[in-house]
Amino acid sequence: MALALLLAIGTLVSASILPSTDSSSLRHDLGNILEPEKVSKLNPKVFIVSLFDAEGDTWYNIPEFNVLAHNITIPGLSPVFPDAHCTQDGSICQLTAGEGEINAAVSISSLLHSPAFDLRKTYFLIAGIAGISPKVATLGSVTFARFAVQVTLQYEFDAREKPVEFSTGYVPQGSFAPDQYPREIYGTEVFEVNDALRKLAVGFAKTATLNDTGAAQAYRANYASNPAFLSGASPPSVVQCDTATSDTFWTGALLAEAFENTVRLFTNGTGEYCTTQQEDNAVLEALLRGAMTKRVDFSRIIIMRTGSNFDRPFLGQSAAENRFGDSGGFTPSLNNLHIAGVKVVEGIIDGWDTTFARGVSPSNYVGDIFGSLGGEPDFGPGSIFEQQTISRRSRRRRV
Ligand SMILES: *[C@@H]1O[C@H](CO)[C@@H](O)[C@H](O)[C@H]1NC(C)=O
Ligand SMILES: *[C@@H]1O[C@H](CO)[C@@H](O)[C@H](O)[C@H]1NC(C)=O
Ligand SMILES: *[C@@H]1O[C@H](CO)[C@@H](O)[C@H](O)[C@H]1NC(C)=O
Repeated sequence: MALALLLAIGTLVSASILPSTDSSSLRHDLGNILEPEKVSKLNPKVFIVSLFDAEGDTWYNIPEFNVLAHNITIPGLSPVFPDAHCTQDGSICQLTAGEGEINAAVSISSLLHSPAFDLRKTYFLIAGIAGISPKVATLGSVTFARFAVQVTLQYEFDAREKPVEFSTGYVPQGSFAPDQYPREIYGTEVFEVNDALRKLAVGFAKTATLNDTGAAQAYRANYASNPAFLSGASPPSVVQCDTATSDTFWTGALLAEAFENTVRLFTNGTGEYCTTQQEDNAVLEALLRGAMTKRVDFSRIIIMRTGSNFDRPFLGQSAAENRFGDSGGFTPSLNNLHIAGVKVVEGIIDGWDTTFARGVSPSNYVGDIFGSLGGEPDFGPGSIFEQQTISRRSRRRRV
């Protein structure tokens, strides 16, 4: 009955966003239809976040579950991906947020404010493909991050104009050299998620037999000539390592090394960069804002990224050849989103009563660089909410 009602709501919402000559009555209708207390909400146990169509497709028409049983149109989602998709019982849902930081932030924020869902106990599984560092992993590898770092939120000099002593044209904001901790902080630079949950997800993912292809094998073999790239030349596996977010799809060894350092610097030496993507800090900021008003639980987030292309060339290859050539990594990275991700989803569903309903207590700091959810970040300058001195300093920081 509740589900039928929701379907009806989905239909009405779809109908009401069509062009109308009377916008005030439309607003009125939407207000009535979406009045939260009048609607039975779905309580998904797992919400899968995809970023573009091919990632979304890996969750459709699969043997394990059918998220196309219910399509729920959510105002505020991407115009190209307007629906959330859920199983018949609403326990597993998926949406495609759209690519880049703006799409990702707005889509997730809209989801959190949709009256169709109660997300307070939901586990969010970010499941996307990414550029991969051959120092840590390879094409088709499945990585789980503890830290997400917004690496291009910095000053940028064109490398041709940078001071000669700088190793890169990127300099943290408010600082004067690439290796100085940023002094002007926006709040989205670093997020840390639940490491205990990450370890459980890694355990689930390791039960999967990962996909690999001849094309990916042939390409990664080139990386064997550099001992630093041994992981890049090895078969795909499940790896714990951290992710870098940037709207700019950067590429090449020099930027890769610069952003490796940024991840290490911004996490006070704790984070190990391995993947580069265009959305995670945006998704995480939206979830953080939702957690501040108790719409979601920030300790229920899993960041899974699979390697689709190397972030830098192999020995003797140019950066352009690496970027514009075909590494063969796209297929196994997409396949492994589903192959490994489904084990994570099933692990949570199967362990719901014993473990996941009540939650997995984090033993690490969980939240943003500001300390917005309470606690003292174990990286960065400290909570701006709990330490009056730092709070004052941060208010002064633009003077
Ligand atoms: C949900 O949407 C998909 C296309 O995105 C479609 O294939 C499927 O049939 C829809 N499900 C229902 C129940 O209408
Ligand atoms: C990986 O998936 C492709 C299809 O996308 C398939 O051709 C190949 O055999 C798979 N490899 C393994 C090792 O499962
Ligand atoms: C992180 O490093 C910065 C710069 O060195 C320092 O100011 C800050 O106190 C460190 N934070 C933690 C939690 O260690």
